[in-house]
Amino acid sequence: MPSLRGGDLTLLLCGCFLLLPLLSHGADMPLGSSLTPGNSSPWLSPNSTFSLAFGPSPASPSLSVASVSYAGGVPIWSAGAGAAVDSGGSLRLSSTGDLQLVNGSGAVLWSSNTANQGVTAAALQESGNLLLKNSSGGAVWQSFDHPTDTVVMSQTFSSGLNLTSGDYLFTLDRGSGNLTLRWARRGAATITYFNRGYNASFTANRTLSSPALTMQTNGIVSITDGTLATPVVVAYSSNYGESGDMMRFVRLDADGNFRAYSAARGSGTAAEQWSAVADQCQVFGYCGNMGVCGYNGTAPVCGCPSQNFQPSNPANPREGCTRKVDLASCPGNSTMLELDNTQFLTYTPEINTEQFFVGITACRLNCLSGTSCVASTALADGSGLCFLKVSTFVSAYQSASLPSTSFVKVCFPGVPNPPVGGAGSSSSSRNSGLRSWVVVLVVLGVVSGLVLAEWVLWWVLCRNSPKYGAASAQYALLEYASGAPVQFSYRELQRSTKGFKEKLGAGGFGAVYRGVLANRTVVAVKQLEGIEQGEKQFRMEVATISSTHHLNLVRLIGFCSEGRHRLLVYEFMKNGSLDSFLFSHGGDANASKPTMPWSTRFAVAVGTARGITYLHEECRDCIVHCDIKPENILLDEHHNAKVSDFGLAKLINPKDHRHRTLTSVRGTRGYLAPEWLANLPITVKSDVYSYGMVLLETIGGRRNFDIADDTDRKKFSVWAYEEYERGNVAGIIDRRLAGDADMAQVERALQVSFWCIQEQPSQRPTMGKVVQMLEGVMELERPPPPKSSDSFLTATTATSGVSSSMASTFASSSAPAPPVPSPNLEQEIAVGRSASARHREIASLPLRSSEPYMTM
Ligand SMILES: *[C@@H]1O[C@H](CO)[C@@H](O)[C@H](O)[C@H]1NC(C)=O
Ligand SMILES: *[C@@H]1O[C@H](CO)[C@@H](O)[C@H](O)[C@H]1NC(C)=O
Ligand SMILES: *[C@@H]1O[C@H](CO)[C@@H](O)[C@H](O)[C@H]1NC(C)=O
Ligand SMILES: *[C@@H]1O[C@H](CO)[C@@H](O)[C@H](O)[C@H]1NC(C)=O
Ligand SMILES: *[C@@H]1O[C@H](CO)[C@@H](O)[C@H](O)[C@H]1NC(C)=O
Ligand SMILES: *[C@@H]1O[C@H](CO)[C@@H](O)[C@H](O)[C@H]1NC(C)=O
Ligand SMILES: *[C@@H]1O[C@H](CO)[C@@H](O)[C@H](O)[C@H]1NC(C)=O
Ligand SMILES: *[C@@H]1O[C@H](CO)[C@@H](O)[C@H](O)[C@H]1NC(C)=O
Ligand SMILES: *[C@@H]1O[C@H](CO)[C@@H](O)[C@H](O)[C@H]1NC(C)=O
Ligand SMILES: *[C@@H]1O[C@H](CO)[C@@H](O)[C@H](O)[C@H]1NC(C)=O
Ligand SMILES: *[C@@H]1O[C@H](CO)[C@@H](O)[C@H](O)[C@H]1NC(C)=O
Ligand SMILES: *[C@@H]1O[C@H](CO)[C@@H](O)[C@H](O)[C@H]1NC(C)=O
Repeated sequence: MPSLRGGDLTLLLCGCFLLLPLLSHGADMPLGSSLTPGNSSPWLSPNSTFSLAFGPSPASPSLSVASVSYAGGVPIWSAGAGAAVDSGGSLRLSSTGDLQLVNGSGAVLWSSNTANQGVTAAALQESGNLLLKNSSGGAVWQSFDHPTDTVVMSQTFSSGLNLTSGDYLFTLDRGSGNLTLRWARRGAATITYFNRGYNASFTANRTLSSPALTMQTNGIVSITDGTLATPVVVAYSSNYGESGDMMRFVRLDADGNFRAYSAARGSGTAAEQWSAVADQCQVFGYCGNMGVCGYNGTAPVCGCPSQNFQPSNPANPREGCTRKVDLASCPGNSTMLELDNTQFLTYTPEINTEQFFVGITACRLNCLSGTSCVASTALADGSGLCFLKVSTFVSAYQSASLPSTSFVKVCFPGVPNPPVGGAGSSSSSRNSGLRSWVVVLVVLGVVSGLVLAEWVLWWVLCRNSPKYGAASAQYALLEYASGAPVQFSYRELQRSTKGFKEKLGAGGFGAVYRGVLANRTVVAVKQLEGIEQGEKQFRMEVATISSTHHLNLVRLIGFCSEGRHRLLVYEFMKNGSLDSFLFSHGGDANASKPTMPWSTRFAVAVGTARGITYLHEECRDCIVHCDIKPENILLDEHHNAKVSDFGLAKLINPKDHRHRTLTSVRGTRGYLAPEWLANLPITVKSDVYSYGMVLLETIGGRRNFDIADDTDRKKFSVWAYEEYERGNVAGIIDRRLAGDADMAQVERALQVSFWCIQEQPSQRPTMGKVVQMLEGVMELERPPPPKSSDSFLTATTATSGVSSSMASTFASSSAPAPPVPSPNLEQEIAVGRSASARHREIASLPLRSSEPYMTM
């Protein structure tokens, strides 16, 4: 039947001929063309890499959005920034040359505003650019100049343009080229929650003329500018350099983060390769108004501050929370409910208007009494900062590692969320029996719950898996992202320290080694000894230590707990410990460190005092350090002081006799407070004593117990007070400073040190007062002699017939060891100090009292 076959062929050819203009492969769309939802053919780029068509709106599937999409269906641009039309709507190129998005009602929702500008046709280019061109082919309008939320390869995003997504806005700052993310809800103040230049060498110093952001085909996000010879790298995609048939792009996502992606042709999905905001919970408004952002271990989750709130939309926790009872109609009083480890996010411009320097109690009360205040946050990072939230939209972040306490105003009574590991999720509960509302218990429950959950998860996932290394590395990354300490495997640490080769030092808790992590971060790895503690308890202590953040405290990066191995990974301090600067002339053969100028010494003293103040007064669980000494004061490359080894004492096995003492306190001779030996309670004031000795050494440049001819064969600390009484301050100061010191400051520091080393703990100032005294904020009285005649210590030591000078009781190589009440301790102390400047550490124990001991 040849005729029939011929007819078929004709029909087929006919069909093809008819279809061709409809499919419009790269062909120009003439004036009058239009696209409709439903089944009209898409406009395609020449090789069909991109298409323009209507698709279902993400917000409501019954409506449609006109988008340019990459092959497979990843949208990169949409008409009217995603405005949705009903089934009667269309996208049409009018006879005047205006591209319009029209709703079924006939209303024009968006237009390119190009009527009567000579537009003769529209074309979708192979790059994804939608072009309205004139008769000579010039671009009158192009979608690349009017981006919605995405910038693709070969597109240039210049300053002055916006990417928008919901309430979020991304721009490139004109002068600095900084990437800027804002929350800009209509009717509310615009909040800038991210503003960063990615390349320090590039942002440091220059003013750009018209920076532009591009996504290079190799996956590098870069910035170009007329003042720059070559593009500057802003970010590397994690699959940077990989080739293949794919499209790369950056996008402002609906969650307020700015990310780089790659999408394989035809896959219809995009894989994240980089994100600007590492911590999603820091995106303002991510969880809506009054929403609390936290991590469930793998992902950010939204919850409500307390049971006084309910989700605004139970189907979408990101829409925030509303009070069950409005504040204006409280039946009784309103009250401030305390939220631990929670922070109400405060960015510019709020940060400029809402911050005050008050204590935590005042932070609560000021908000309670302020009629427009809805919540407040007290930072516990040593700054004493309080943020009062008066705006109508507040956004919160909760994490065990956040050093801040917040308060939210609710109708009395405040009903806290049940204590579950997680962020303010009110739905789940656990039969833990922890039904007490005692705040400390709640916190404990949350922390231990988290730690336990992590441990169980780790055990289940990684313990017996052959892919243990990779899995744990990935898990570590997640943990890092959520602010918790990173868990390392013993093998990882062995590798990073090259088999524990480069020893940095040895402290009371074990040796410290230099290591380099996989991401090239240099760290100090402490191999703990004498730890027989359970895994759970160890992890709880680690969580506490790592949640203690302060500029003047060494940061714990991670830990390892495998079998009997217990290691802690700290940030590495380039400039070593204070002792090497102060005492470089004595003992040590490798004493090549330069003398520290007075201004640095003073800054180190103040920084150290701030760090200890934070431990004593500002963090939740008060920590008595028990071993303040120059060896434990480390210096970073800018000579910022960082106190190390805090909170470790609890880790030591109490059964280890080397560490067993009267009250199980650790300490180092010469820096031990007198009450330590007198079997009296150890309080924060014991640290003040040790600090005073360190301060004195910082001024004098020698150990407080050094005995020399030029100190009349007296201990330096005793001699120094005598000289001070004689008015000879200049004689006490380190000779190497050679008159290069602010003498008023020296005298003040000297007075503070004598106040600190008072024999009676009640006579010593608190660390907070020490900071104020050093800074000159507080008046200083003349200090009395450190040893008072009617002290408790005289009473105990007098019987021994040892010199009544408290100072000499402590450590002098020539004096006999003082008798002490505890036979255990006596044994320890009787061991004379070695000739080297290092001192034998006697015993150790961490002390954490729930209440600081404050007398002054
Ligand atoms: C379209 O594909 C052909 C064959 O793969 C290629 O030669 C041509 O360069 C492509 N055109 C564009 C604009 O990419
Ligand atoms: C378009 O019309 C539909 C129904 O008439 C309506 O639901 C929708 O909100 C309109 N879109 C816009 C952007 O006004
Ligand atoms: C077409 O547009 C280009 C660029 O906008 C312009 O330079 C050119 O003069 C225009 N040509 C006509 C015929 O309008
Ligand atoms: C970008 O956003 C800002 C703030 O919303 C607005 O003032 C500006 O006109 C926008 N620019 C463009 C090109 O849309
Ligand atoms: C740009 O970002 C840097 C931090 O990366 C910041 O210090 C600087 O102030 C920002 N510049 C502007 C103009 O906002
Ligand atoms: C900034 O520029 C000034 C003058 O050009 C230069 O002296 C200074 O070293 C630069 N600072 C940085 C951090 O590059
Ligand atoms: C900073 O920019 C330079 C030059 O573009 C690049 O080599 C370097 O890797 C960038 N640094 C970072 C951290 O991206
Ligand atoms: C965390 O939350 C995400 C998103 O809600 C969910 O997919 C994931 O399963 C949760 N993970 C855990 C461990 O609960
Ligand atoms: C309201 O609070 C104040 C101060 O806490 C208290 O004195 C007063 O009795 C309370 N009133 C009611 C009705 O609870
Ligand atoms: C390297 O990794 C550690 C732990 O994983 C992390 O704390 C640190 O910030 C990382 N450093 C850099 C530069 O990313
Ligand atoms: C001095 O340095 C050498 C090599 O760096 C080291 O072996 C030695 O122990 C050091 N001596 C002292 C006293 O620190
Ligand atoms: C100590 O700090 C100074 C000043 O920042 C720096 O020049 C020096 O290289 C540092 N020393 C070491 C050993 O890193």
